[in-house]
Amino acid sequence: MMQNNMNVDESLYIIQPPQRVSDGSYINSIEKYKELYNESINSPITFWGEQANKFLTWFSPFTDVSIGNLSQGDIGWFLNGKLNVSYNCIDRHLQENRDKVAIIFEGDEPNRVQKITYYELYLQVCRLANLLLSLGVKKGDTVAIYLPNTPDAIYSMLACARIGAVHSVIFGGFGVEAIISRIEDSHSKIIITADEGMRGGRSIPLKKNIDSAVYHCKFVEKVLVFKNTGGNIQWNAEKDLWAQEAMQEQRPYCPPVQMDSEDPLFLLYTSGSTGKPKGLLHTQAGYLLYAAMTHRYVFDYRDSDIYACVADVGWITGHSYIVYGPLCNGATTFIFEGTPMYPNASRYWDMIERHRITQFYTAPTAIRSLMKFSVDMVEKHDRSSLRVLGSVGEPINPEAWRWYNQYVGQGQCAIVDTYWQTETGGHIITPLPGATPTKPGSATLPFFGIQLAILDPQTGQLQEETKSEGVLVLTQPWPGMARTIYKSHSRYLDTYMRPYPGYYFTGDGVSRDQDGYYWISGRVDDVINVSGHRLGTAELESALVGCSSCAEAAVIGYPHDIKGQGILAFVTLKHGYQEDEQTITLLKMEVRNTIGAFATPDRIIITPSLPKTRSGKIMRRILRKIASNESSPEQLGDLSTLAEPETVQYLINKVKSN
Ligand code: WTA
Repeated sequence: MMQNNMNVDESLYIIQPPQRVSDGSYINSIEKYKELYNESINSPITFWGEQANKFLTWFSPFTDVSIGNLSQGDIGWFLNGKLNVSYNCIDRHLQENRDKVAIIFEGDEPNRVQKITYYELYLQVCRLANLLLSLGVKKGDTVAIYLPNTPDAIYSMLACARIGAVHSVIFGGFGVEAIISRIEDSHSKIIITADEGMRGGRSIPLKKNIDSAVYHCKFVEKVLVFKNTGGNIQWNAEKDLWAQEAMQEQRPYCPPVQMDSEDPLFLLYTSGSTGKPKGLLHTQAGYLLYAAMTHRYVFDYRDSDIYACVADVGWITGHSYIVYGPLCNGATTFIFEGTPMYPNASRYWDMIERHRITQFYTAPTAIRSLMKFSVDMVEKHDRSSLRVLGSVGEPINPEAWRWYNQYVGQGQCAIVDTYWQTETGGHIITPLPGATPTKPGSATLPFFGIQLAILDPQTGQLQEETKSEGVLVLTQPWPGMARTIYKSHSRYLDTYMRPYPGYYFTGDGVSRDQDGYYWISGRVDDVINVSGHRLGTAELESALVGCSSCAEAAVIGYPHDIKGQGILAFVTLKHGYQEDEQTITLLKMEVRNTIGAFATPDRIIITPSLPKTRSGKIMRRILRKIASNESSPEQLGDLSTLAEPETVQYLINKVKSN
């Protein structure tokens, strides 16, 4: 995690929303925020009932606003209501906004730009929905989507939503093993992919990865392939089908299926501290409402805006803030296939200038890598269209926050540091651009309807003082929350509801300052956050152990200048293997191939043994300290319970000399 500068009390710096942003914004003062916030907490039924009717179009109305509680984990919203998410994101905008641009796509090469109107989006989604139906996809079936960050991904998600299929998007950076485990868990018989993706001038062999996965998953019946680069691919005539060609044969009208509010909308796998990734399940109405409402208020989205989130649709940020939130609001949403560094480090600022982007949403890791370049790279581009600058994925260090504010926003934009999770569906702690005074490094205050509390991590005791720290929990259900883990409801309860009974446990540490502002410090479990990507140490370790040389592995996160956290693996080798360049390269390759390039360990330290308790448990606390160079005897604390205390000294020396 990036550390704050300890000599400065960041909680004392307050930056008021710029006047040009407040003027005309929906929530234009902190008093107005407080008034609405209190209303949302004091009368949740009225509040959410009104919002659901304001933001969504219903085929038939809901009978109850909500049911269930956190203790039981039996949550439902807008019961018995009927709606269709793709209808809400497309059809209902056609009457007035048929020719409005729904999607601006920019490919990896800056000259590959495509604008898709709401009507064109409608035609494509209908054709693809009919194609899926013709392949036998039924309501409730899961469809896996493994695509680059292109409009095809949006068509695919919405086509599933239109016919009631449950999509499971697999991030295009994942490798074969990660694909297999997701396809197996969700038992997806249909996969939608592309020949290749393009990022930073390099092609990504998507179809090839799917071919390897399908070889293992015999139950896969069809692979729909979108042509993206036109690169060479293997073709399996029995299963493969060119998507665009097949879509041309389908009728461009497909009636939207009536879905219940609580029918599943999608699965999205995310890493936890133990075991395999969990397929978090989001449902129709509550998720869509929460995505749309946060999109409107947190970005202060207005009709003529050009809104850009440069995340990938393979993550929850892409689901909620490239696809569902913006399209539900009838926005023009931007989707970008490439990277911030290609063809050079001005790419983001160049796109902002060319498309006159009004809201720009990215991750701290990108900001930190771009601030290494001369500010001229930013300043040579006109950024006057910008109003709101968003940050997501990990704590933003105050230095990066200030750079973003001063150089990108020229002090004229609101910075919204949005804290949330795959599980929360949308932002839960965030400033509102026209209302909330901000403090660099703090995600500030809860969104409407969100009730937060801080607990002592050991005792679970509620921290009632305003100024306090501990673990972050939510005290009441909210519409956007994931309802279960696919086919593992007990794991859902164990992970989120049982650690602190009566509360939803985020897994994050937090402090609250004298003004009630929240400062997220990062995960308190064995999840690490690498460039905003969430990775479980257990997954990384099991990938390493898959390498023939590796006897045992312990993975931890350590502070990294650009990525927030880097991956450090301590590895013991099997007999007959020795520590050399080749062994280390093969270990790294194993993780890369198993999970994906973004999970490649930054450092591997070979050791004859790992520090363990006498009962055999690896002491990660000690490894974390060693990796952060907090290895004085006082910092390490009591080592008397260790089986081989000399291992610790060995590792301290090795980390220092490595
Ligand atoms: C971290 C991404 C601090 C946090 C939307 C959380 C953040 C995890 C922030 C969820 C933020 C996300 N400030 N930490 N603004 N945003 N996180 O599921 O540790 O990929 O629990 O969702 O990212 O990651 P996920």
